[in-house]
Amino acid sequence: MGKDTFTIIDNRTGKSYEIPVTDDTIRAMDLRQIKVNEDDFGVMSYDPAFKNTASTRSKITFIDGAKGILRYRGYPIEEIAENATYLEAAYLVLFGELPTREQYEKWVYDITHHTMIHENMRQFLDGFRYDAHPMGMFISTVAAESTFYPEAKNVFDPESVELQTRRLVAKVPTIAAFSYRHSLGLRYSYPDNDLSYVGNFLNMMFKMTELKYKPNPIIERALEILWILHIDHEQNCSTTTMRVIGSAQADPYVAVAGAAAALSGPLHGGANERVLRMLKRIGSVENIPEYLKYVESGKERLMGFGHRVYKNYDPRARIIKNFAHEVFKVTGKNPMLDIALELEKRALNEEYFAKRKLYPNVDFYSGIIYQALGIPTEMFTVMFAIPRTVGWVAQWREMLADPEQKIARPRQIYDGPGERHFVPMDER
Ligand code: CMC
Repeated sequence: MGKDTFTIIDNRTGKSYEIPVTDDTIRAMDLRQIKVNEDDFGVMSYDPAFKNTASTRSKITFIDGAKGILRYRGYPIEEIAENATYLEAAYLVLFGELPTREQYEKWVYDITHHTMIHENMRQFLDGFRYDAHPMGMFISTVAAESTFYPEAKNVFDPESVELQTRRLVAKVPTIAAFSYRHSLGLRYSYPDNDLSYVGNFLNMMFKMTELKYKPNPIIERALEILWILHIDHEQNCSTTTMRVIGSAQADPYVAVAGAAAALSGPLHGGANERVLRMLKRIGSVENIPEYLKYVESGKERLMGFGHRVYKNYDPRARIIKNFAHEVFKVTGKNPMLDIALELEKRALNEEYFAKRKLYPNVDFYSGIIYQALGIPTEMFTVMFAIPRTVGWVAQWREMLADPEQKIARPRQIYDGPGERHFVPMDER
């Protein structure tokens, strides 16, 4: 049995170095000892977009991208989606274990009793233009929460961390739904404590003149499953943003707002919105071959396809695809589904996609279901941000408790000019 080390020979100097290998990983800081002379800074690793760099140890989410496996705290996503309620799954991701009945009841009570937002927030939301994108409103309003809870800055006070965790999980659906109501010019619908977390969200979105909103149980469960699937996905772009902002010890509201801003990009959480627009543009099954040619020529990406980590079918996409038919029994079939199914089938048969291991990701089918549930396209990324807030907060808590973490601060390779001297304006 060999040793768990690498021997690196520096051909510049002929010196050799023994570097420990743990978990198939070397520590980038171990490279720093490799120097040409005493004044040399030492060797760094260069990894734009962090394609092969582990920035943390984590106990939250496991992904095997080659096999298409996703687990929360060790539990397969399929089992969680089938058996857990949303708040049960959120508890698991945040605190590491499935709750006992007593813990669960207290957790549900605590979340249910933090769903209100300060009345001043309403005025804040009212200030947005009628056509403001709900994701922009969501990001800004979550950031503004920071001004209401100044004690949130005490990121090493365990009581404050617990309180801000409950507040964030409880209030993001309210902020999201209020953003939507504002965009329609509708009166805000206040939280209803008799309803489940998801049922209450539907109430805040869709209640009109009825005295009591009654969510359809199948729709409620469909949304619950969608949200469970979106809770966490380890060190993706927005989660890394959360950790980077949090590493400066900023409060969790502004950190969640920053993470949500990263999520809003079309290559990340914004993709679900783009998928629907793409399907609409394709318009019918006959136009698919032409569209695929367009994608293969490199002019556009097939939205909802491809993933940095999954080089196999995204297990979340499989779950969503399978329960889409259940949802459509209640809502009526979304005609976009036929286009999506055919698009997937044809793309998977194309050499372009096979060669690059591009498969449908979570966003490919989620938008079709959101649309069938009556959720407008502009809200799709907000629908992603609500459950992902749990993941962001779980990762932030883990980071704060990790003695190895410090303020995030990558290095660079300076490629600019060498020293030069100031030239007065008239001489330039
Ligand atoms: N359509 C067409 N070609 C693609 C696609 C796509 N969706 N995705 C990747 N490629 C090609 C890409 O052009 C490149 O080809 P080549 O080697 O010839 O240059 C190759 O595949 C590798 O792509 P990459 O950009 O190096 O891969 P990445 O790991 O940096 O990007 C991704 C991952 C998710 C950003 C990318 O696959 C993509 O843009 N997908 C479409 C947007 C999308 O659906 N995003 C949602 C991701 S899942 C949920 C989430 O994260 O929020």
